[in-house]
Amino acid sequence: MKISLNNIGQVYDGKKVLSEISFDVNAGEFITLIGPSGCGKSTIFKIITGLEKNYTGTVLINGIDLEKYQGKLAYMPQNDLLMDWRTLYKNAVLPMEIEKINKKTADEKVRKLLPEFKLLGEENKYPYELSGGMKKRAALLRTFLVDTDIMLLDEPFGALDAITRSEMQEFLLEVCEKHKHTVLFITHDIDEAVYLSDRIIVLGKNPAVIKGELEIKLPKPRNTEVLLEREFLEYKKRIMELLV
Ligand SMILES: Nc1ncnc2c1ncn2[C@@H]1O[C@H](COP(=O)(O)OP(=O)(O)OP(=O)(O)O)[C@@H](O)[C@H]1O
Ligand SMILES: [Mg+2]
Repeated sequence: MKISLNNIGQVYDGKKVLSEISFDVNAGEFITLIGPSGCGKSTIFKIITGLEKNYTGTVLINGIDLEKYQGKLAYMPQNDLLMDWRTLYKNAVLPMEIEKINKKTADEKVRKLLPEFKLLGEENKYPYELSGGMKKRAALLRTFLVDTDIMLLDEPFGALDAITRSEMQEFLLEVCEKHKHTVLFITHDIDEAVYLSDRIIVLGKNPAVIKGELEIKLPKPRNTEVLLEREFLEYKKRIMELLV
């Protein structure tokens, strides 16, 4: 088990935001959390990454209690991705700079991933010179550089146009397949959830409880043709029913 949440609760200003949240993420799985805005999805990520400490319940990472866990997690937060005053390259190496990883090693790691993330030749540009899709790929590249196999992605493709978003989804499926990462993903988009996931956890609001869980049995690797298949639409319908 890569991540295990047991009976997680969170209260903010006397208001219960999360209640009795329990689920496990197995190695290599792609799991999506979906639920209404403000229901507590990002809070779950903040708890898992150790940014939020006042929760109740227990979190295990690789079987180790979060409070004792020394390893790393790759986390792409919902907002603000890149530093405007640093080039794409400088943004990508930042986490390694902070960890004082040897410059040459960091450089090799970034350069190796640039072509895979379709950013070769763009590395000296500043964020304002990049398209929305490039910025998202740069932030993802930086997330992939963290030395771990566990990734938490909080709405990484929000605010992208439909075509770029669809390209990014296909791209993410490919890189995850290749790198064999375990991914916990957040989205509002039902199509995106079904297309990418092995399992989907549907959350309700006030407080967020788990309303249902679906295993997506569509074979992988997937391509966009699957979006029109009857099975795909049935999964979508099931999620919509759980969300209302
Ligand atoms: N540090 C905090 N202090 C007080 N309240 C908070 C804090 N962080 C989050 N909240 C509240 O907790 C609730 C859940 O917030 P959270 O960001 O987890 O929602 P979300 O499901 O990620 O929403 P969205 O889909 O809009 O990103 C909201 O009502 C929010 O106002
Ligand atoms: Mg959020």
